[in-house]
Amino acid sequence: MQLSYDRGMLIVPHNEKYFIYSPANHVRVMVDEYASFLVEQILAAQGWIEYEKIIFAFADKFEVTLTTEEVMKQIERLVKMEVFFKTKEDLFRSRNKKIDKFKIIDKPPNLVYLLLTYKCNFQCSYCYLRDAYKDIRELDTEQWIQAIRRLKDVGIKKFCITGGEALVRDDIVEILQEIKTDDCEVDLLTNGSLLAEKFSELDPLIDHLVISLDSLDYDTQATTRSNYGYQKILNAIELYSKTNPQKLQVRAVINKHNLNQMNDFSQKLNRQYGIRTIRTLVNPISSEELDIIPEAVGKIAIDQDLLETFNYNMKYRKCGACNSVIALNPAGDVMPCQAIMKPEFRMTNIFEDGWFATYLQSEVRQQFISLNLDQMEKCNECSYRYLCGGVCPALAYNIYGKLDHHVPLFCDYLREKAHNTLLYAKGDWQDV
Ligand SMILES: C[S@@+](CC[C@H](N)C(=O)[O-])C[C@H]1O[C@@H](n2cnc3c(N)ncnc32)[C@H](O)[C@@H]1O
Ligand code: SF4
Ligand code: SF4
Repeated sequence: MQLSYDRGMLIVPHNEKYFIYSPANHVRVMVDEYASFLVEQILAAQGWIEYEKIIFAFADKFEVTLTTEEVMKQIERLVKMEVFFKTKEDLFRSRNKKIDKFKIIDKPPNLVYLLLTYKCNFQCSYCYLRDAYKDIRELDTEQWIQAIRRLKDVGIKKFCITGGEALVRDDIVEILQEIKTDDCEVDLLTNGSLLAEKFSELDPLIDHLVISLDSLDYDTQATTRSNYGYQKILNAIELYSKTNPQKLQVRAVINKHNLNQMNDFSQKLNRQYGIRTIRTLVNPISSEELDIIPEAVGKIAIDQDLLETFNYNMKYRKCGACNSVIALNPAGDVMPCQAIMKPEFRMTNIFEDGWFATYLQSEVRQQFISLNLDQMEKCNECSYRYLCGGVCPALAYNIYGKLDHHVPLFCDYLREKAHNTLLYAKGDWQDV
């Protein structure tokens, strides 16, 4: 008998157990040393089952005597768990079942980013909006209110307010009042410098607040972000920590200047203020600016706390642009996500008749939703691809001018993250 299986199967030792991962059908099981050895024997024989050889190998390694029935029983268990298959068709069936589950369908996005303005009181060195078209004609208050109604009309219920710096707008409260109803959720993403003075008006209108801060050290924060408002940001964090710490997250962009502070940063914010941090790696905005990436990029430790909140969902592409996410620029143009504001990606404008149908059918959307790791150079051979989800297409575009270009510089970091997802993420998996 020859069993079928994914040739990219991984066997990962962890805490005296072993994770077996089959990429094709995205199945993860945790087994003991004996079962892991059995899997190794089957892989070494390319799926051919020769009971005598297996029994001999076990006697040699563990000094145990197994019967054919015992080996058969264990193999049956692995087949039941869909790590091995009796036929190729069974393997394809298992794979297609997973693919169908994650198929992209035409539906309203779960989340829309509203870039209320490109104006900002900071000038962060890495900001992906640094070169955005600043003299764009921004929607006025009434137009934003109408735009929000049009978004709600197609069923969108989650809004992330961002910019630029949204709090430089005088009408921020009015705009939030339009969004905030019982069935709609509002996140605010801000540099935090103007928050304290508007706190009492804003707070009841926000479900979740993210303050961007790269460091607790003034000089480091000033290097990448701004020397303006540092103390005000800390005051805002302190204010929240006393009133509503669960509502707040602090988001740091990891770069070569703050990398070695990151662990202390998260621990301090947690200990001192009871606040969780999000850490994301800087996305260089052009090929000339790659040197902002820390040299030891593959060695960046990933917070275990964070990993445990990850879901073990299959990722054809991690990117949700034009599927779970869209963004509106300050003029109401509908864009794939908050990090892709280049004019070539404009799909429609929120005030165009039939904007939603135009968006669904737009060529740009087709480009995004057809991005597929199985067809991407390098990623298509990588066993971690459905755990990784690949690099951000906006980043690939910024560096190589192509949404689906492989970005080797980020690969070690992403593989490490995917590896940890395999070990720690919540979700379906079986323990043998
Ligand atoms: C463009 S800002 C707009 C909201 C607000 N001004 C702020 O800084 O939070 C949104 C988020 O993107 C992050 N960001 C900007 N440029 C980035 C880049 N090149 N790579 C990674 N994150 C970036 C910012 O640090 C911030 O957390
Ligand atoms: S504060 Fe936000 S919008 Fe302003 S420059 Fe920095 S990252 Fe960009
Ligand atoms: S980016 Fe790297 S780790 Fe991620 S799927 Fe592609 S090759 Fe694998």
